[in-house]
Amino acid sequence: MVGDSMHPSTRKIIVLKPALLSPFWRFFGYFWQFHCWPDHLLSCITAILRASSPPFAAMLSQLDSLKTEALTALDTLSDEAALEAFRVDYLGKKGKLTALSGGMREVPADLKKEVGAKLNEVRDAITSGLTVRLEALQAAKDASAVAGIDITLPGRPGAGVGSLHPLTQIRDLAVRTLRRMGFTLADGPEIETEWHCFDALNTPTDHPARNESDTFYMPDGKLLRTHTSSVQVRTMESAKTLPVRIIAPGAAYRRDEIDATHLSVFNQIEALYVDTDVSLADLKGTLEYFFREVFGPTTVVRFRPHFFPFTEPSFEIDVKLEAKGKEARWIEIAGCGMVDPAVFAEISKKRGDNLFDPEKVTGFAFGMGLDRLAMIMHGISDIRHLIENDVRFLQQF
Ligand code: PHE
Repeated sequence: MVGDSMHPSTRKIIVLKPALLSPFWRFFGYFWQFHCWPDHLLSCITAILRASSPPFAAMLSQLDSLKTEALTALDTLSDEAALEAFRVDYLGKKGKLTALSGGMREVPADLKKEVGAKLNEVRDAITSGLTVRLEALQAAKDASAVAGIDITLPGRPGAGVGSLHPLTQIRDLAVRTLRRMGFTLADGPEIETEWHCFDALNTPTDHPARNESDTFYMPDGKLLRTHTSSVQVRTMESAKTLPVRIIAPGAAYRRDEIDATHLSVFNQIEALYVDTDVSLADLKGTLEYFFREVFGPTTVVRFRPHFFPFTEPSFEIDVKLEAKGKEARWIEIAGCGMVDPAVFAEISKKRGDNLFDPEKVTGFAFGMGLDRLAMIMHGISDIRHLIENDVRFLQQF
């Protein structure tokens, strides 16, 4: 047998009877049993302080009764003015709750937290009670405003339902058609530099388009672009790879006398396709497809030699159209051509690389007036109708 390992049943248990302890140990043991007597001691002291602090006790009970009083009062109020008066009475600057919270000053520092929490609880209860009443009131008002009206009834036909402007319609049709062919949308500023509008497009300084009477110049030398071809330049300036295949619809400006066929602001759509093997056949095919989509499958398209500084060779495009009851005639509709190598050279100089090496890349470009397209399509005889916003005109589209 191992002598020092006693069986539990034979172990002697020493029991200290409280009566046997001295008063000091009795006091100490009382706290010790909680193993945290400093905390306990603290809460005892707090309790004693709390009971002996009249502002504290008074404030807590005052706050409680204020809450009960406010919530009971709230139940009896049924219009907005009364609710506003209630708000001022309880929560306003000179309200009851504000007055009570002034008592905080007398509450001892270590009790401020508890009183503060109570104050917040009461303020929240009154505020949310008030919100609930206000919302209920608003809901009742809304319901009575539509009482007797069937808000599910459909609108009356012809009561001013609008439609897209004919120019918007034609622009969307052009964009839709060209996007189907792989062109993406590009954009550029309408207030343009001379370089983007002219120099980069091989347009010499003495070209008539640069004349002050052709466009509008800003005091800083910038101008309102005379064509959307400037977007070609901006696109090539920032392109990362080939091919470049973009369209750019937008406003263009000319200092024209306004008459039945001219406005100083009009709309164009520009296209540019650059790669290593773009040919004139691609240009012809693209435009023939485009005009047949817009004007119908039997439309005849003619390419007439022309001159533009930035394309070589260049063409004007005519489509043969018949107005109702009249003989078919050729109508000039767009300008186009193969991008002049001088344009690629200027772009390369600006970029400082050879992505647009004039020896390696070819491209085509075309541009046309959308206003003119809309006029031809709809038989509109005066371009000014497009900007006058006369509903009798617009209702036809
Ligand atoms: N920018 C020309 C114009 O406004 C049209 C055009 C665009 C011609 C592209 C050739 C190539 O008249």
